[in-house]
Amino acid sequence: MTKRAFIKSFGCQMNVYDAARMADQLTAEGYEMVPTADDADLVLLNTCHIREKAAEKVYSELGRLKDGPAMIGVAGCVAQAEGDEIIKRQPRVSFVVGPQAYHKLPSLIAEAQTGAQPVETDLADDKFAALAAPTRRVIASRGVTAFLTVQEGCDKFCAFCVVPYTRGAEVSRPVAEIVEEAERLVAAGVREITLLGQNVNAYSGGDGGLAGLITVLAAIPDLKRLRFTTSHPLDMDEALIAAHRDEPKLMPYLHLPVQAGSDSILKAMNRKHTAAQYVDIIQKVRAARPDLALSGDFIVGFPGETDEDFEATLSLVETVGYASAYSFKYSPRPGTPAALRDDQVPEPVKSARLTKLQALLAAQQKAFNAGCVGRTLPILIEKAGRREGQWVGRSPYLQPVHIQDGGETIGDTVNVEITGAEGNSLFGVAVAASQKDAA
Ligand code: 5AD
Ligand code: SF4
Repeated sequence: MTKRAFIKSFGCQMNVYDAARMADQLTAEGYEMVPTADDADLVLLNTCHIREKAAEKVYSELGRLKDGPAMIGVAGCVAQAEGDEIIKRQPRVSFVVGPQAYHKLPSLIAEAQTGAQPVETDLADDKFAALAAPTRRVIASRGVTAFLTVQEGCDKFCAFCVVPYTRGAEVSRPVAEIVEEAERLVAAGVREITLLGQNVNAYSGGDGGLAGLITVLAAIPDLKRLRFTTSHPLDMDEALIAAHRDEPKLMPYLHLPVQAGSDSILKAMNRKHTAAQYVDIIQKVRAARPDLALSGDFIVGFPGETDEDFEATLSLVETVGYASAYSFKYSPRPGTPAALRDDQVPEPVKSARLTKLQALLAAQQKAFNAGCVGRTLPILIEKAGRREGQWVGRSPYLQPVHIQDGGETIGDTVNVEITGAEGNSLFGVAVAASQKDAA
């Protein structure tokens, strides 16, 4: 009988990519991937350690699963950070595998079948070289947009962040390997690729950094759109800024986290730039691509953050104007310098600041979406809508767009007149069929 496996992914897009690669491996091992844990023989939790809440989810999930599947694996950043502690806390766990070691999944499963509870958190191997290429059928089942990890790890050591410890030092994949993977994705029907890395704009796997890689990938004929995430302001070099002007396949959307607006907090965070330097970079990218939509990450309540510091964050948000953003309460993480400080901000203060910041960011997002109404935007069709004749796609600015029309094809880019905006979504009608492209 075929064995069934279910992977539950928490956290960032890198984990979504990793989950897909792990699913490829399990499929090659004869597993059938199933959509829930209910009737799975193997459940793999692909975990996140970025904030306390994310890490805690793993143990509550393990508690729920303990009487369930024959085999439970813990992968991802909690696996890396906590290693055999996980098995001590939850003895039902069959194996633990860190994010740099998941090419060893088949041998770990084999070992676990003997009753051993292996823990593999080696950071040294080149997992990409060791991974089998996924089949076209497996890729095609995922749709027209795909993630592609090009860089992993981080050397920046922001004072709040666990990533340099859980994902290790910055490593870039070679250009040729990435091009081969991108071509395989495109051959299977993918039309939009988001290049991923914890610090993707520090990519150094070939000539010209990330901009060079974008130029090479943009030459793949049937690939229509490229995006990248997530970036550090210091690595926004001139070439990457110019790519936003010169490369039409690079979408006008930039996720550039700043975290805070006060220079003293930025310094304490070890971000290595000021608020003014950040604004200056944004201005340069906007000069290169005037319709650029901006996204960011923010942390409120970093140790020592005063009301005045927080006001500086609000004022930076006012200055920049975001199309979307992610904001979090500071969460002390074990092993990071900021967690040791004795000037932690009280929880109610963090909550009040987060509410205020999120209200401002939500208003900006609403205004950005409303500003799209009346424009005609190229929409990449991703799937059929709920009702007959409806389609759902994405705008260049990453907004989901619900289209009222007949006869589109998944993977087409269609010009759509935007007629409404609601929540995070846009609504529109396809304009003349003759404007559809051929793909
Ligand atoms: N507490 C809260 N938010 C954090 N992030 C990273 N570490 C922490 C932490 N300790 C946020 C940052 C980062 C995003 C991925 O998660 O904003 O950009
Ligand atoms: Fe974490 Fe800072 Fe590296 Fe981003 S740049 S992964 S926030 S250490």
